[in-house]
Amino acid sequence: MKALVLSGGSGTRLRPITHTSAKQLVPVANKPVLFYGLEAIADAGIKDVGIIVGDTAEEIREAVGDGSTLGINVTYIPQDKPLGLAHAVLIAQEFLGDDDFVMYLGDNFIVGGINGLVDEFRTERPDAQILLTRVPNPTSFGVAELDESGRVAGLEEKPAQPKSDLALVGVYLFTPAIHEAVRSIEPSWRGELEITHAIQWLIDQHKDVRSTTISGYWKDTGNVADMLEVNRSVLETLTPSVEGTVDASSEIIGRVRIDAGAEVRGSRIVGPAIIGPGSVISDSYIGPFTSISEDCRIDDSEVEYSIVLRESSITGVRRVETSLIGRNVQVTPAPRNPAAHRLVLGDHSKVQISS
Ligand code: G1P
Repeated sequence: MKALVLSGGSGTRLRPITHTSAKQLVPVANKPVLFYGLEAIADAGIKDVGIIVGDTAEEIREAVGDGSTLGINVTYIPQDKPLGLAHAVLIAQEFLGDDDFVMYLGDNFIVGGINGLVDEFRTERPDAQILLTRVPNPTSFGVAELDESGRVAGLEEKPAQPKSDLALVGVYLFTPAIHEAVRSIEPSWRGELEITHAIQWLIDQHKDVRSTTISGYWKDTGNVADMLEVNRSVLETLTPSVEGTVDASSEIIGRVRIDAGAEVRGSRIVGPAIIGPGSVISDSYIGPFTSISEDCRIDDSEVEYSIVLRESSITGVRRVETSLIGRNVQVTPAPRNPAAHRLVLGDHSKVQISS
């Protein structure tokens, strides 16, 4: 069995973070979302992994390399334009050959891995198996309709009037039957060859398409609240460790990971929280559910329930809460007079000011 991981796309939903970074590399508990998927694939015993890359190919290659550190063997497959998930299967045909495969969307996050699913698929071997999860916003997803016996009766891509709240999760298990399907469909209204339509084609051909409903799922619907929430849930399982330096006047409470090369001085850190390599926390409070990436500076500030990406600094500010702060950002207090907010915000930024 092989894996096909999709890591192209432009990430419009996570702007402005994705103006400068691939959406699959947005970190959850200081690790790119994509790595959780690759680790789940490796854990399921799959070694040969094709990664579809687009405009952000270089960044993805730099992060993943040949996959050896993750115990997998990566083949990069460039996709010139984001022409759809079924198009990705089309261009991966040479790599996939006649093997069964798991297709994994690199911006999807599934709690608990895929071992059970892959084992079930290997034993039962239906023509295709999809994953479903209940969501509050089905119009942002592919949506499945099940009949009384729980079989997949039909699928629609981002329907205006969804027939259920069961969204298609971005992990699919396929036999080579999918190849004829992706060759048989036409582009959708958004100009993409939809995998949803290819699976519907299999259903129309009376192929055996099964579904499993899961919980514990996240995807980049552009909702920062969701991202903070998935960060929270991963931090809750963190193994505490202190590899960096913590001075005697600091206090570390609960599940906290302080990476090698990080420094904590005169501060209080209440977990679950993670401080990345090279970051310096001084005279500050870091509260629960906070991920500080590498090479950040937090000085004389309070930060809680937030994600701070690398090389950013927060100085003399209290309190930052429920925030997603990008790379190389500086947050400082304004001078006292005049009492005004001074902002330099990139395109698609979102700011909430408490005044
Ligand atoms: C794609 C699929 C959609 C699925 C979603 C899951 O959507 O087309 O059916 O529910 O992934 O991540 P897209 O990310 O292309 O909008």
